[in-house]
Amino acid sequence: MEWKSIYRSKLKTADEAVQVIKSGDHVYIHPGCAVPETLIKAMVARGGELTDVHIDHILTIGEAGYVSEEMQGHFRHNALFIGSNVRNAVGQGLADATHIYLHQVAKLFYDKILPVDVALVHLSPPDEHGFCSFGVGVEMTKPACEMAKIIIAQVNPNMPRVLGDCFIHISKIQHIVEVDSPIKEMPQVGEVTDPGEQEVYDKIGGYIAELIEDESTLQMGIGAIPDAVLNYLENKRDLGIHTEMFSDGVIKLVEMGVVNNEKKTLHKGKMVASFVLGNRTIFDFIDNNPIVEFHPSHYVNDPFIIAQNRKMVAINSALQVDITGQVCADSIGPRLFSGFGGQVDFIRGASRSPGGKPVIALPATAKGGELSRIVPYLIPGAGVTTNRADVHYVVTEFGIASLFGKTVRQRVNELIHIAHPKFREELRAYARSVKYI
Ligand code: COA
Repeated sequence: MEWKSIYRSKLKTADEAVQVIKSGDHVYIHPGCAVPETLIKAMVARGGELTDVHIDHILTIGEAGYVSEEMQGHFRHNALFIGSNVRNAVGQGLADATHIYLHQVAKLFYDKILPVDVALVHLSPPDEHGFCSFGVGVEMTKPACEMAKIIIAQVNPNMPRVLGDCFIHISKIQHIVEVDSPIKEMPQVGEVTDPGEQEVYDKIGGYIAELIEDESTLQMGIGAIPDAVLNYLENKRDLGIHTEMFSDGVIKLVEMGVVNNEKKTLHKGKMVASFVLGNRTIFDFIDNNPIVEFHPSHYVNDPFIIAQNRKMVAINSALQVDITGQVCADSIGPRLFSGFGGQVDFIRGASRSPGGKPVIALPATAKGGELSRIVPYLIPGAGVTTNRADVHYVVTEFGIASLFGKTVRQRVNELIHIAHPKFREELRAYARSVKYI
């Protein structure tokens, strides 16, 4: 019972707790739907008293007041994956971005490349032993807490208690702020209102489903493409999940018994993830649910761990793919859009998995059909996220291009075949001009 009095002794208001942040500190923020809004607001409110505070995190949901123009000089954000709330600030040079594989973010903390002076986290209430769960995301927050000099925790009864390697004892936390507010929900980026667009995603989903054999283990990101795939898996058998993140679409397949994890070769019987992005439905699903095991991203996303899953199918998306197979997923020209996240981690893990299939899926066009996403070369300033030797399958609504082990000539033909018909001749003409075909 000792921990209960320790817990009480650490209780503060948010305004009191954030007083420990000093000018020049590195502050880590729990990302995704776990974002500790009350603590962030309190920190930003005292921004005027602080200078040069570094704010480090991957994608968060909601307001990020520390990137506003008024906060320049007080806070400087470093996006380890750019979310929509900081994208403009990065584009305007008001915030920084770091290219990093998700499985290596923890290494930045462990190797003290990124110090963690203060960690702001959002936790479930302690259990009978005094352990709080990291809730909707354990990703790199557990490593950040292991390295943090000071941890300030927002403790919330609405935070699900998830199972796995995702707990912290209250003795490790310096300041506790109790809140009772809804967990931030991710608007479903995959929700499509345009029927034409929906048709494109459905076709892509159908093609990806063709690649998924019974007994496969899946990684899927959020968005229209993974959600569309899930609609085509109802006739599959004995699927498993090993993924950095998942959202609501998976629940139906679990309830139908399609996802039962029984044939997994690692963590048999369990879905493995390191965070969820979604709404209350998914938060309730993971609460105390022994079918789901959460682990930090340096474990879940380690390509050598991923590869231990037989028939691992990794499904990731892209902004552009050139006709040799170079994938750009994190920038539109020089405009930094998102990040590496787990794309390369899973593409490489799946390619080493026995029977594994790394898949890149994208609509053939952007901007209402004006632009081809299959391009002669990546537009100037665009970066390669997944390189062409790592790419195996590329899927659009026009089919599946199989690139692994293929010559440049074969790749070019495969990729032109899945481009929108109205751009194919232009792509062919370019390929001829540089003697690819
Ligand atoms: N040229 C110009 N604009 C383009 C474009 C192109 N070739 N391709 C896409 N766009 C625009 C779209 O029109 C859209 O604009 P809008 O927001 O104004 O509608 C925007 O870029 C996003 O494109 P969309 O295809 O809707 O993105 P998405 O939400 O499906 O996400 C990625 C796709 C690639 C951005 C996303 O998967 C990502 O960030 N990946 C990073 C790496 C990764 O896969 N990690 C694993 C998961 S963490």
